[in-house]
Amino acid sequence: MNLKNADILSIDQFEKADIAEIFSVAAAMEPYAHREKITRVLEGAILGNIFFEPSTRTRMSFATSFQRLGGAVYEVADLSSTSLVKGESLYDTSRVMENYVDLFVVRHPTQGAVQDFAKATSRPLISGGDGTGEHPTQALLDLYTIMKEQDRSFDQLDGLSIAMVGDLKHGRTVHSLTKLLSLFKNIRFTWIAPEALKMPDSILEEARQLGHHVHQTEDFKMGIAKADVIYMTRLQEERFTSKEEARLHRGRYSLNRRTYEQCCSPKTLILHPLPRDQRANEIDMDLNDHPALGIFRQAANGIPIRMALFAMILDVYPFK
Ligand code: NCD
Repeated sequence: MNLKNADILSIDQFEKADIAEIFSVAAAMEPYAHREKITRVLEGAILGNIFFEPSTRTRMSFATSFQRLGGAVYEVADLSSTSLVKGESLYDTSRVMENYVDLFVVRHPTQGAVQDFAKATSRPLISGGDGTGEHPTQALLDLYTIMKEQDRSFDQLDGLSIAMVGDLKHGRTVHSLTKLLSLFKNIRFTWIAPEALKMPDSILEEARQLGHHVHQTEDFKMGIAKADVIYMTRLQEERFTSKEEARLHRGRYSLNRRTYEQCCSPKTLILHPLPRDQRANEIDMDLNDHPALGIFRQAANGIPIRMALFAMILDVYPFK
């Protein structure tokens, strides 16, 4: 696969071999990610880091990754500071900004808007989250984390058992992660969600058609037992039409040390794309120091993954 000048918009664009290649470049980025080695290969390049929706990890880790490669970052995180508030279209914004940057990272609350932004520009663009659609780079770092944490080779991902928990309807990270895992064989998905927040049918159909095992349940304790990985998610309250409805589901699934030790094997890895919502307590603070809690190492893995994508898209890898 040649990612030179490519957009990264959906996991659908990848084959299994592409993922292997991205992960091997990510592994080569690790010493640079941790500043054990220094490179300036992207010196002079500018990233447009454009976030039309709140973000901490994704925005900061894209920026850090670009800077670790020697590039500079132009940040737009506050819509009210752009001409969009003067009525400028997304199309014009994209066409104008492309004159000032070499590539874009864009997050937008409306599904499809990131694609529209990408279509308008000839610059490469990486999605930082597309409404309730997809979040492809999060899925890449999630899978990279599973491999590292469980010491699995690429071939040992077949047969993985994963429980995905929470707002599976609006959660773009679980949409992308399901698509990504579906590139492997015989994945055992357990989807734990209230009826109203179940995984979209299109994603269910796709996983089933590819021969994976899908079990849907509302029973948290039964659902997480026997999983190799528990992937907790946040209730996407900002995407609900009524706050009342969101409140109805808040706190429905909460993992604490007692439940974990009661239901799971000590090898079960706990992930969450973050942020965890303190009000809903998806993962209790009493797990903070538990070795199975991978969430902060997961967030750190965003750096080598995003460095790899930048290096491949801007065609500077292998470094000279
Ligand atoms: C997620 C997102 O924005 O989709 N966060 C992230 O990028 N790590 C998950 C969330 O907001 O709940």
